[in-house]
Amino acid sequence: MKIVRHIANLGYGSRKQVQALFREGRVTDADGEVLYTDDPVDHDAIRIDGEPLDPAPGLCVLLHKPVGYTCSTKDTGRLVYDLLPARWRLRDPVLSTVGRLDRDTSGLLLLTDDGGLLHRIISPKAQLPKVYEATLAQDLRGDEAATFASGALLLESETKPLLPAELESLGPRQARLTLHEGRYHQVRRMFAAVGNHVEALHRSQVGGLGLGDLAPGQWRALDAGDLQTLFAGRGA
Ligand code: URA
Repeated sequence: MKIVRHIANLGYGSRKQVQALFREGRVTDADGEVLYTDDPVDHDAIRIDGEPLDPAPGLCVLLHKPVGYTCSTKDTGRLVYDLLPARWRLRDPVLSTVGRLDRDTSGLLLLTDDGGLLHRIISPKAQLPKVYEATLAQDLRGDEAATFASGALLLESETKPLLPAELESLGPRQARLTLHEGRYHQVRRMFAAVGNHVEALHRSQVGGLGLGDLAPGQWRALDAGDLQTLFAGRGA
C-alpha cells in the first residue's frame, strides 16, 4: 500500500493533508532523514514529527471500561472511544468493540480493527468464557447455580435455552458468573429470571485475559502473547 494512503488510513488526515506533511518535511525515518511519498518504507521505520506511527492495522486494545461510557461510535454522552487517542476514531479499517458492555457495566472490553480476530473471539464455536462479578439487590436464594448450570434456562422472549453457566457465590449479594456465550443484557436478564436484580456489574475476564493493573479508563494494546493468553482461556 502506498505510504500516503497507509498514513491517511491511520487517521492522520486526508491524503491531501498527509501529502502536505511530506512536503513540510515532517515525515522522516528513524534517523531523521526526510521521506518522500514514493519511498518504499515499512510502517515501523516511519516517524511523524519524530514520533513513531500509531499501531498498524491488526490492532487489538484492552480497555478497562468505566461505568457511564457507551460502546458506540455515535451515541450521545460519553463513549468508550473518548478514552482512546482521538485519531483512532478516524482509522480505516475502523476500530470496533468486540461485543458490548452496557453503559452501567464496568470492566474488560476489547476493541479491534481486525474482523477475523473479532469473529474468532465472539464466535459461538470459540465459547470463550466471560467472567462477571455482580452485586445483587437481594440475597441469593441458593438454587441459582443449579438453574444457571442446567442448560435449560430460557430468557424472556427467547426460544433457545442458555448454555450452562457457572455461578460462584462471593457473599449473600455478591456473585461471580462465568458465561460461554454473549446475549443481550445476558447477566442482568439471568438474575431477573431468578427473581433478583443486578445493581452493579463488572467484567473481570475474557478467555484467559484479565485486566491486570489497568485502572478504570486505562487501556493497552495487546501483543501476540496476550492474544495467546486470550485464546488459552478457551472452554476454561
Ligand atoms: N450482561 C449484561 O447484562 N450486561 C453487560 O454489560 C454484559 C453482560
